[in-house]
Parts: sequence; C-alpha cells; structure tokens
Amino acid sequence: MATTSSRAPAATLALHVEKHVHYITTLDTAKDTLSYHLSEHLRINGVYWGLTALHLLGHPEALPRDETISFVTSCLQPCGGFSSAPGHDAHLLSTVSAVQILATIDALDTIDTTLVAKWVAGLQQEDGVFAGDEWGETDTRFLYGALNCLSLLGKMELIDVEKAVEYVLRCWNTDGGFGMAPGAESHSGQIFTCVGALTIAGRLGEIDGEMLGDWLAERQLANGGLNGRPEKLEDVCYSWWVLSSLAMIGRLGWIDKEGLVGFILGCQDEKKGGISDRPNDEVDVFHTVFGLAGLSLLGYEGLQEVDPVYCMPRSVTKRVLGN
Ligand code: FPP
Ligand code: ZN
Repeated sequence: MATTSSRAPAATLALHVEKHVHYITTLDTAKDTLSYHLSEHLRINGVYWGLTALHLLGHPEALPRDETISFVTSCLQPCGGFSSAPGHDAHLLSTVSAVQILATIDALDTIDTTLVAKWVAGLQQEDGVFAGDEWGETDTRFLYGALNCLSLLGKMELIDVEKAVEYVLRCWNTDGGFGMAPGAESHSGQIFTCVGALTIAGRLGEIDGEMLGDWLAERQLANGGLNGRPEKLEDVCYSWWVLSSLAMIGRLGWIDKEGLVGFILGCQDEKKGGISDRPNDEVDVFHTVFGLAGLSLLGYEGLQEVDPVYCMPRSVTKRVLGN
C-alpha cells in the first residue's frame, strides 16, 4: 500500500550535514517553549539521540562534554537508576540512555557502575523479562534495554541470561516476527529489541532468519519508506527498527537501498535541519537520529558507521566491548 509524496528523486537530494548539526546543537536553547516542558520525561533520551546523531554526522565535539556529564550525573537517583531529568523517578529507559551517553563520551568512570548495574539487574522478573521501573510494567523493550546497558557496563553476570533468552523466544510468532510479550502481534520495534537481545546474548542462531527477513523486507512500500507493521504508513524511524534487524540477521540487502535513501533524504527540513517521520511533517530529534542511523547502515557516504545492536557509533562499541 504505497503513498505518494512531492519529494525529489534520490539522485537530486543531498544530506544537509551542517544544518542537522545546527538543528541538534540549538535544541536546548528553546527552553521557553511548551514542547520543551512537555518533553521533560524524554530529556535524557533526547541527549542520547542528539549526541548519537552528532557522532554519526562526524561532529562528536559539538555538545560540550563537561555539561553532558554534569546533566547525566544530575539524573542519577540514590537507588542506582537514572531519571529522565533531575527530580523525576528512575526508569530503565533513562538508565540505558545515561549509560549509552557516558560510554559514547568515554565517561563511564564518572559513575558507580556496580550500583547502576545492580539496580538494572534487580528489575528482572521470575520469567526472565524486565520491568521498566519499580512499578513493574514489563515488555521486551526493557529486556533489551537491560542487556544493552549491562553489556556496556561489563556486568552481564548479574542477571539470568538464559531466562531472558527463553522469554524472548516465547515472543517469537509463527509469521517470523516478535511482539512485546508472548502472543502479542509482530511489530518492527519489538523485533529490533528481541533480535538485539538475542545478539547480545550470543543466541541469534536459534531463530529462523529467512522467515524473519521476509517479514522485514515486506515493510518497504512503493515510495521507498518502511512501515512498522502490515497496513501502516511508512515512517523514518522504521528505517532504524527494520534495517538494524535486517543487519543483525545478515540480510541488509533484502530491501531497495536507493529507494530508502531517497525516502529518508526527502524527510529532511532543508531550511532549519532535522528529519521528520515522513515528508513535510515537523522534524524532531528522534526521527533525526534514526534517519541518520538508517542512512549509516545503508553505507551513505560521509556518515560514521553505526552499530546495529546498540544504535551507537561502531567506534564506541568497539572501544567499550572490545569486539
Ligand atoms: C516503536 O515504537 C519502537 C519500539 C517499540 C522499540 C523501542 C525500543 C526501545 C525504547 C529500546 C531502546 C532503543 C535504543 C535504540 C537504544 P512506537 O511507539 O513509535 O511504535 P508505533 O509506530 O507502533 O507507534
Ligand atoms: Zn516514527
């Protein structure tokens, strides 16, 4: 089910690197806007998205390192988890972003990594899945997040990896995809989390890559963009969730690369920088990083290599994980 847009053909479009750097580095100056306050629950995620985008664009120094460390450490709560902004409750997704940010700027030595890892490990449930916080909501996003940050912290031994893998395999559907919980509909975002978790656990060999690859490749629509599930609209962030999953199972070549490059480039705001979910929509930093990360996986010239498992610069995961 293709949709049409007024975007120019891929060949005539270019990546506006300097505009994107300017867009990201000035995001924090709009503090008097309503949207800034409404997005406080995503503040630390926003720093991770912006920082990662800047690294992929080849401008790793564009955010001041000291200020970044001081913001992240101001979100550390006494329990060992990080909150989205000072004064909020600790949450696993904020903690993943904090660890990813500090790993990226080589500043993990500024926190007590054992305290943080113990808090994350304490969120694992009897059936192997993880809760997002002390209130107990569970899904595979949190399971992946826990494995992501514990592996970066070198503390995987604190959790029951086998039980986590068993839970992920229970989320595997007969169509080849994965859902957020056992029996839940296949969804590209959840596929990323499940395939990422299996990759970190070294257990990717247990799934059927052919069937999953088919399901993922079917996400591409006639305009080049990817959707998250059958019958849904294309969206730039799925350039990440779908493509990274294909990369992890070694089937990146199963989509039309040129078509997707054209779709992502057509979602740039050519005046102020930033990338939106689809052409002519308002840009945001979430779609900016996942658009750039998608282009990086597609080998777009001039972008730094991204790690498909962590959505971080590959140079960083190599340094931290030693692989
Ligand atoms: C789509 O969400 C995406 C997901 C469900 C995956 C989210 C994964 C994480 C939060 C883990 C951390 C990720 C990284 C890269 C470190 P959506 O709510 O936009 O789905 P919709 O399109 O169906 O609304
Ligand atoms: Zn999106």
